[in-house]
Amino acid sequence: MTIIKVQKGTKDILPEDMPVWHFMEEKANEVFTKYGAKEIRTPIFEATELFARGVGDTTDIVNKEMYTFEKSERSLTLRPENTAGVVRSFIENGMHRLSAPVKLWYKGPMFRYERPQAGRQRQFHQVGVEVFGIEQSTADAEVILMAVNYLKALGLNDLSVELNSLGCPECREVFKTKLKEAIKPYLNELCPDCQARYEKNPLRLLDCKVPECKEIYSKPGIQAVIQSDFICEPCANHFNELKGYLDTLGIKYSVNKLLVRGLDYYNRTVFEITSNNLGSQNAVCGGGRYDSLVKNLGGEDIPAIGFAMGMERLASLIGQKKDSKLSAYVVCNNPIEGLKLTEELRANGITAEFDLTNKKFVKQLEKASKVADFAVILGEDEIKSCSVTVKNLDNSEQKNINRTELNKELFVK
Ligand code: HAM
Repeated sequence: MTIIKVQKGTKDILPEDMPVWHFMEEKANEVFTKYGAKEIRTPIFEATELFARGVGDTTDIVNKEMYTFEKSERSLTLRPENTAGVVRSFIENGMHRLSAPVKLWYKGPMFRYERPQAGRQRQFHQVGVEVFGIEQSTADAEVILMAVNYLKALGLNDLSVELNSLGCPECREVFKTKLKEAIKPYLNELCPDCQARYEKNPLRLLDCKVPECKEIYSKPGIQAVIQSDFICEPCANHFNELKGYLDTLGIKYSVNKLLVRGLDYYNRTVFEITSNNLGSQNAVCGGGRYDSLVKNLGGEDIPAIGFAMGMERLASLIGQKKDSKLSAYVVCNNPIEGLKLTEELRANGITAEFDLTNKKFVKQLEKASKVADFAVILGEDEIKSCSVTVKNLDNSEQKNINRTELNKELFVK
């Protein structure tokens, strides 16, 4: 019989991977809670229209990458990202009545029908933050701080923050017209995707990866438009303030005028955090301001900003540094005493197991060396003297200690 395999672009997260995933989730809760953010969990599928209107029907995500299906004549889509879903919930649950800022964080699976490659899956996980209700650039600075400090808490430092301002719909319109004028003479030489983008979404021309297109966009006449300070005065002030805050807070960043992001809802600040250790799919975090989305999805006129990070990419950076071993394996031929000691350890927050089949001492020790950091040996002598022998399974050192000292001993390694 043929074996049914996991679907292309999806992966099992196996028990040995879990310590890293728990670590990422616990740190998210810890760090984002410090900023006053509350966790939200929205459904994995939503009305297709939410993404068409929210993410934008000129984007690759909506046009090519959605998992859409019909049920009872309704068109439903597995969420390709979670900003639209969180905004829907914000509106539906009247969260605009809460005192601003409303800070929400989330984690969970997302689905995009993309060509799978290292760092790119069809089902992947994001952890993200959305902050509602503040127009000032202080919110932009705080959101970027939340992202940077979360990455620091994960022990990830070799990262770069890139920033850009897309301006507001008015000044962006002027920019789009100028960009199209400059590119027009080369229109026939562009790749088919860029030819379509030229009309529908000219900003997206800037992050095309096709070498021939990139060469055209590096021509001086086109570069002059791209590098120009096209944003209007209020947008420029907003961006300059943000840069000032980041300078004061010691957050290093660079301005990248080619950073346009692949979703339609952004205005003003956009940012990405990339790693130098990830190959071509090197963005660990993407985010930005989306001041019109709440209104466009039927809510009040409420500004917002947020980001999301790819958890598989974070996990591969964290690597398998995190130890998945038990702290203690209790080696004992007296089942009652063994169970009692193991329970005592667990009650004190130590991960511990005990051989439930009462194998020979030597076999139990062998098992301990495979699964735990320490063997806690409880022989007849130890039981009588109310002591235990602790063996460090890394260096084989062992010592006999009083049972009351056991917890302390197992925490230091
Ligand atoms: P995004 O840039 O599409 O933004 O995704 C954010 C992050 O999710 C990426 O930087 C990457 O780490 C990860 N990611 C995206 N696609 C894949 C994939 N196919 N496989 C693995 N990882 C992936 C958003 O989704 C916006 N909702 C972010 C946001 C929140 N903007 C404002 N608020």
